[in-house]
Amino acid sequence: MSHAEADHDTRRSRQWLAGEARGAGVDRDRLLELGVAMAALTAAAAEREPVAMASAPVGVDPGTPIAKPLPPELLRPLDTNAEMRWTALAGQGYVVPNDRFFVRNHTETPRLDADTWRLRLFGTGLRDAPTRDAPVEFSLDELRRLPAEDSDALLECAGNGRRYFAEQQGEPAPGVAWGLGGVGVARWRGVRLGTVLRLAGLRDDAVDVMPEGLDPDYVTGGINLGRVRRPLPIAKALDDVLLAYEMNGEPLPPDHGFPVRLVVPGWIGIASIKWVGPVEVSTTPLFSPWNTRFYRMFGPGHPVGGTVLGAQPVKSAFELAWDARVPAGAEVLLHGRSWSGNGPIERVEVDTGDGWRPADLVAADRGGAWQRWTARWRPPAPGRFTLRARATDTTGATQPDRAAPNTLAYLFDAVVHHPVTAH
Ligand code: MTE
Repeated sequence: MSHAEADHDTRRSRQWLAGEARGAGVDRDRLLELGVAMAALTAAAAEREPVAMASAPVGVDPGTPIAKPLPPELLRPLDTNAEMRWTALAGQGYVVPNDRFFVRNHTETPRLDADTWRLRLFGTGLRDAPTRDAPVEFSLDELRRLPAEDSDALLECAGNGRRYFAEQQGEPAPGVAWGLGGVGVARWRGVRLGTVLRLAGLRDDAVDVMPEGLDPDYVTGGINLGRVRRPLPIAKALDDVLLAYEMNGEPLPPDHGFPVRLVVPGWIGIASIKWVGPVEVSTTPLFSPWNTRFYRMFGPGHPVGGTVLGAQPVKSAFELAWDARVPAGAEVLLHGRSWSGNGPIERVEVDTGDGWRPADLVAADRGGAWQRWTARWRPPAPGRFTLRARATDTTGATQPDRAAPNTLAYLFDAVVHHPVTAH
């Protein structure tokens, strides 16, 4: 490709990423390829770079991307994000309390006014094709008057566990270096997205639904990618997706999407758009950088355009500090949790150095969003030990010894080697 062609292609794909090339007779496949080429050039930078603000929301200190306190014993800050410390779950119940639930922010938490906030649905997938400027609107009170539902759903960032690509597999990866704390289960309360779509006049031939967040535009590599948004296929949108307005019995906290967010059970966290405002419903497939450029698997074993991510894989974690200290010769009861985007966990095995053995599953959690378990262990002598936990879900999917490498280092599902010291 000549320099001029490359320059032209870059311009076109920028237009496409910005949504300007739509309907201009542009060959989408070609543009998808260009988007992928651009992704390859900028992907690493995109996830590594400090995030530039396109516009700071009024009244928010740009130095504090997260609104809630970040006590070091509960949360570990990571750029604009914060991961939960697994020790913060010790002695807790099934759900993760709001004060320690992980936060994944592309930019920062906006402060929205619930009284003026509106959900705004528009697009060709709705009767009479309402436009973005004249959408079908719902206030928070109107949503609250619709049939409410509770859902104990798990949210997990697709990059959760990324640091172990480097630390365990010797495959350094770009992006936020999550340990295993980019995950949590909460009790969400809200109205089904399907109910709202139908009230808004959903057409039978709608194929995609794209919610958009009201947080600041995401700017990376010098390009403004606009609002965080990602399309959902209509089948998932009509299945178990909630427009949630409560988290663990409280109004959604600002960091977790106040006043309303999507909760998309089983799917990678980016699907669960926070601070949702506009929602496009379309009879043709929708695209955004979050399904073409990020949150796709690129690299060995994937087609040139990458593989789009949907469900999360199987994972496990101990409710234990990294490098925890335990008394030698005394019995300890190890606690942990396992989860899978495919469905419930069937079995968990633990290895403390002398082979795999079954863990005891907490009966009350069977069939749930995640599975708590315990295993007894008596460290035989002082020294360093490696603890491992491996789960299998009801589809038979299990955790491998090595996670499949991919350019953006998503879905680290391998058994994690957790170091402890007996003294
Ligand atoms: N929605 C908006 N508008 N902006 C964001 O930055 N981050 C997504 C998703 N929804 C994000 C968003 C990602 S990548 C994840 S993992 C989840 O929100 C995290 O939700 P939490 O911060 O409530 O834990």
